[in-house]
Amino acid sequence: MLIDSHVHLQDKKLISDLPNILANAKAAEVDYMVCIGYDYASSCQAVNLARKYDQVYAVIGVHPHDASTLDEKTLSELYTLAKETKVVAIGETGLDYYRNLSPQDQQKKAFIDQIHLAKELYKPIVIHDRDAHQDVLDIIKKEKAGVNQGIMHCFSGHLPLAVEMMQQNFYISFAGPITYKNAKKTHEGAAKITMDRILVETDCPYLSPEPLRGKRNEPANVRYVAAKLAELRHKSLSEIGYLTSRNSKQVFRITD
Ligand code: NI
Repeated sequence: MLIDSHVHLQDKKLISDLPNILANAKAAEVDYMVCIGYDYASSCQAVNLARKYDQVYAVIGVHPHDASTLDEKTLSELYTLAKETKVVAIGETGLDYYRNLSPQDQQKKAFIDQIHLAKELYKPIVIHDRDAHQDVLDIIKKEKAGVNQGIMHCFSGHLPLAVEMMQQNFYISFAGPITYKNAKKTHEGAAKITMDRILVETDCPYLSPEPLRGKRNEPANVRYVAAKLAELRHKSLSEIGYLTSRNSKQVFRITD
């Protein structure tokens, strides 16, 4: 079994072909997928998909790119939406200093507001960090964001950051870049990070793994991420599937 811990099924590239995508995932033994919001509308879509499909869970929140859309009204709407039974975390939130699509002060405010929301709801938090390691870590420590655990999504290959994040109660999720030949740091991290903190994800429709780079990504492809992890850890694919699924269920409190 496999769990894809980070998908964006509501993206127009995927939603238009959803029956095929879910069938492909089933054929690839992907038992569950966690659909992540990036603004209020996409969070509502994630919840609707979770209501409709047993194998889909929802994470609701506002991405750093969209941080400027997180006003008081949206925060209270997210609070209400989080009461849905299959909302398993808050996110994705964090900081993105690579694209800076929202001003950095707004990104920080939205990040802190969502940490407070997650703490109020006793839910874990899903973190997006791009080129903002120190600020992400400083905020997580100051706000004690890991009190209900959380996930550092799409591990960047920066092992010291992963170690500090694990000390703050976070899990580390690997995505398509682990399959890239030149991703030496990601490979080193995958070999060293303690196995009981590792998750796998596709971040679909983005970040297709080898040998599918350049094509649309989908949850079935999480098996390429898991297979590369199996190679790096000298384990079988089924062991990796079991361990990463167990970790996903723990952090998202999925019981079945
Ligand atoms: Ni994402």
